[in-house]
Amino acid sequence: MRSTPKPRDHHYENLNRIERLDRKIQDIGSKIHKDEDSRKITCEVFDEITLLTLYKLVNKKIINSMGGSISTGKEANVFLAGRTDNDGIETGAAVKIYRLRTGNFTTMSEYILGDPRFSNIRRTHKNIIFAWTKKEYSNLTRAREAGIPCPKPFAFERNILIMEFLGKNDVPYPQIRQKLPQKPDETYQDAIDLIRDLYQKAKLVHGDLSEYNILTDHGSLILIDMAQAVTPEHPKAYNFLFRDIRNINRFFAPMCKTTDEHKLFHNIVGEKFFEM
Ligand SMILES: Nc1ncnc2c1ncn2[C@@H]1O[C@H](COP(=O)(O)OP(=O)(O)O)[C@@H](O)[C@H]1O
Ligand SMILES: [Mg+2]
Repeated sequence: MRSTPKPRDHHYENLNRIERLDRKIQDIGSKIHKDEDSRKITCEVFDEITLLTLYKLVNKKIINSMGGSISTGKEANVFLAGRTDNDGIETGAAVKIYRLRTGNFTTMSEYILGDPRFSNIRRTHKNIIFAWTKKEYSNLTRAREAGIPCPKPFAFERNILIMEFLGKNDVPYPQIRQKLPQKPDETYQDAIDLIRDLYQKAKLVHGDLSEYNILTDHGSLILIDMAQAVTPEHPKAYNFLFRDIRNINRFFAPMCKTTDEHKLFHNIVGEKFFEM
């Protein structure tokens, strides 16, 4: 009969596995990041808490391997990962890791503390980042339920979000700024419809909408980067909505005829808003 592992053995086994994962990640880091600056970022991403969290997600079988880097942003890094879906099929996943060391803390606080869903968290640096990650997961879930095209979220844990990988053969779909629309009039209308549906059906305002946060797959649009999205109760929701509309107009203006931003805002929020 096998004896139950002593807590101490268990501890060592865990450490061993984490070390292996750690080495693997460093490996990835050195393969992708040849220069000093990028190597520094790799160290900044994979601190101890983040490694433990990744390990937990591997243990829960949400992902089973880490792939290359997709993006290094201001607050987060996105990586490709391997995942086995419920039917046992190997697929990809996108792993978004919010950096605990270099998070853009002030902006996050401003967005998150005005949101009634997240206003009662303890305001420590880490807690804000964990809540931020959870918020992106909740927003994606909410948007998907309303039929908005965006990545399907699989899981979140502390500062890590795992979601559907949007791309083909390990190559992510391009951002709309990288692959300009062939029929800008139609694509512009699609983008406006997305803002409207997100507001009217999902009751969300994206809050950081631009040509960077819309991916395109053969002309159809997919919204990403939803952590900062807020509900209409947020004190700045309507400022954010107006800014989103303005950004989309700015991007499309050189390519096609755009509708006046005030008129669009009016159409999206409806008459009732102005009667309040
Ligand atoms: N689910 C995904 N599938 C494929 N690529 C993704 C996915 N999520 C993000 N990306 C890529 O990573 C980039 C950064 O992701 P984003 O969520 O916008 O983070 P950031 O907060 O750094 O802007 C995106 O522009 C896109 O190219
Ligand atoms: Mg982005």
